[in-house]
Amino acid sequence: MSSQPPPLIPRHIAIIMDGNGRWAARRNLPRAAGHREGVRAVRRTIEAAIEHNIRWLTLFAFSSENWRRPADEVTDLTFLLRHYLRSELNELAEAGVRLHVIGERDRFGPALEAELATAEARTRTNDRLHLVIALSYGARAEIVAAAQRIARETKSGTLNPDAIDEAGFTAHLATAAMPDPDLVIRTSGEQRLSNFLLWQAAYAELIFDDTLWPDFGASNLADAIAEYARRDRRFGARPSPVPAQ
Ligand code: IPE
Ligand code: IPE
Ligand code: MG
Repeated sequence: MSSQPPPLIPRHIAIIMDGNGRWAARRNLPRAAGHREGVRAVRRTIEAAIEHNIRWLTLFAFSSENWRRPADEVTDLTFLLRHYLRSELNELAEAGVRLHVIGERDRFGPALEAELATAEARTRTNDRLHLVIALSYGARAEIVAAAQRIARETKSGTLNPDAIDEAGFTAHLATAAMPDPDLVIRTSGEQRLSNFLLWQAAYAELIFDDTLWPDFGASNLADAIAEYARRDRRFGARPSPVPAQ
């Protein structure tokens, strides 16, 4: 491991975008209105991330557990996702954004699955901001899928069980090509991970912001980045010496 201090700007920020329903309920609006407004916050956050030179941004848009929601809410969310893709893809591509999708995307049906693949292919050569959308994503399912792949490789003889190490395990996850998140932000005041990036966030800094996701914007992101810069990341090593006055 390098002895260089980690840079003050997080390379990878991951956000649990929570609170759309409460935002709507406070206004006596249907939950769908909160999700629609949440899309505007996504737009603002991507722009702000680019301005801060963040290289990786992961957005938790739909969890594997969110299928437990009423069918009409799932339909609204799927509609919004398709609408977002169609209306934003040009702008994202022109802004230098490369899109990646993690999660069980096939559960949204072959048409949307194909649109997601097209969007990824279309932005493949961009690298200003890697935007990872977590869709029907659950960390435990991801880890189980990695274990299955590893088991198949060991059974077929292409992988020696004694050679499996942390890096090798990481390489079997959906996030294999991505750096671990340095900072995980959750909005709406809830303080839990809800099955998000459990392996990858092992040493992430956590920030819980009371703002409901539809109200999140550039200043919230700037505050989180500033707070991150004040944290002392130790990775189990000794605390950094207090600088001489
Ligand atoms: C986050 O907002 C969006 C998704 C989980 C899809 P919620 O819909 O969870 O909003 P609350 O938590 O009910 O306020
Ligand atoms: C987590 O939010 C999932 C997303 C933001 C997509 P939830 O609202 O689903 O999480 P819980 O149910 O409060 O833990
Ligand atoms: Mg919620």
